[in-house]
Amino acid sequence: MEVNRRQFLTFLGTGTAALASLATGIPALAKGESISGKTADHLFGLDKAPQTFQAKFNPIASTNKDDVVLPDGYRYDVIAVYGDKINQSGDTFGFNADFTCFLPFEGKKDHGLLWVNHEYCGELEFYVNGYDALKSDPDKNLRTAEQIKKYLYVLGGSIIEIKNENGKWQLVESSKYGRRVSGLTPLKLTGPASGVAKEVIGTFANCSGGVTLWNTILSCEENYMDVVGDCKLTNPTHYGWVIEVDPFDPKSTPVKHTALGRFSHENTAMTIATTGQLVVYMGDDATDQYVYKYVSKGKYDAAKGKANSKLLEEGTLYVANFSKGKWIALDYTKSEALQKAVDDKKKTVFTSQADVLINCRIAAKIVGGTPMDRPEDVEVHPIDGSIFIALTNNKNHSNFYGHIMRMFEKDNNHAGEAFSFEIFATGGPQSGFAAPDNMAFDSAGNLWVVTDISSTSTNEGIYKSFGNNGVFFIPTSGEAKGVASQFASAPVGAEMTGPWFTPDEKTLFMAVQHPGENLTSYDKPTSKWPHGKAAHALPGVIAITGF
Ligand code: FEO
Ligand code: CA
Ligand code: CA
Ligand code: CA
Repeated sequence: MEVNRRQFLTFLGTGTAALASLATGIPALAKGESISGKTADHLFGLDKAPQTFQAKFNPIASTNKDDVVLPDGYRYDVIAVYGDKINQSGDTFGFNADFTCFLPFEGKKDHGLLWVNHEYCGELEFYVNGYDALKSDPDKNLRTAEQIKKYLYVLGGSIIEIKNENGKWQLVESSKYGRRVSGLTPLKLTGPASGVAKEVIGTFANCSGGVTLWNTILSCEENYMDVVGDCKLTNPTHYGWVIEVDPFDPKSTPVKHTALGRFSHENTAMTIATTGQLVVYMGDDATDQYVYKYVSKGKYDAAKGKANSKLLEEGTLYVANFSKGKWIALDYTKSEALQKAVDDKKKTVFTSQADVLINCRIAAKIVGGTPMDRPEDVEVHPIDGSIFIALTNNKNHSNFYGHIMRMFEKDNNHAGEAFSFEIFATGGPQSGFAAPDNMAFDSAGNLWVVTDISSTSTNEGIYKSFGNNGVFFIPTSGEAKGVASQFASAPVGAEMTGPWFTPDEKTLFMAVQHPGENLTSYDKPTSKWPHGKAAHALPGVIAITGF
């Protein structure tokens, strides 16, 4: 792969050799008796033989076809859709699938566990519990207790066992690992704000997420307030956190890590700083909200395996100020601005670090964080360590098509407090994509980007030329650097979410979220994806092969 010298030299003030050594500076994963194999290790720069990936496809044209459209030579298997049985006790796959992460069994490449987020119901709740969102009065929430229970059950996440047999990926329906972590599951809190409750019930609005260096899942609670309202829940402070789940231990209790702050979390991107500290980058997916990073107090120790999870309990949360190129700590004990902050009624806003973490948005604004254009996925480049941020759009700033930023930490120190940045790619008819959302890197450092044009806007007005939402391939170096080619198109009303490669990069997992959304009548579904399975569309996960 070609290294872009100008960029490295300009932004990092160092030669390419130093950067190339980044990968080797990171400790290897702990080896042990674990049944979990390596996930896509290039994500952490752990793979010693990366940069082999070559995407060869003839880009597709935008389309409004009601199917997952792929380039010639590629195909997809539907692995699971809403309602599929996932274990012996009869648990079922949740609704509106989002983030996916494949964790192979040790020594296997075609057999393992797939974590899948389930974000929300929306008007398609009708298909979940019969509640007619189109006819209901939004001011009167007439959901029954039974409907609320069904609603909460289909959100959160699923752990499913999957296997590739005879070239076809499929669900193992009677898996002993198959498990739901839902809006009804008890979770424990960790960190400075854990005093909120000993135990909380439920995780929901799980948008995107990430994997840890010790092969557990981080899943992000995004628009929790919608679910809190719909389900008549009383304590919103229990939601809006990053949760951690160990898919290989079906009896483990998932936790919510309060040290990572409370906001509309999109995803997490974990890396190790040159200091050995763990760093987690995160975006708050809302108009004029912020980009954050968490830096652990302690250092990562591969030999400690899953005990490294403790690093997510004590550390510093920073918010980005892009006008100064500075990370600002949200640290109550050190920040006079936070200690002295008063509201309109001259009442003290925060009295502790727990207060700051629970009310991150307010704290971020007080210390001078830069309001952004809906920061969604944040990902760390597997080869050079730069950070990519998808900014979906922000009509308040006439940014209708969104863009992707690339951030460079000073001296490539992910634990540091200074950075520079550039605009890596911009959405619009000129580039062929709009509203970038989730991103995934392949081992050669190419970006795979999905788009999230809202289902009320697709194929209309200024978004007409883009057709349905899609998946785009964007090299980050070489002649085609920053140039998007369309790899896939989503069914009607849907967005493709949660791209995740198998370690051998022969399969790309993705979710098909909210196909058939934005309908006017349940009698006239706008999508029936995947065709033939039901009278209406069903969200689910697919495996794309042909690489
Ligand atoms: Fe749930 Fe940020 O998209
Ligand atoms: Ca998203
Ligand atoms: Ca969305
Ligand atoms: Ca989105």
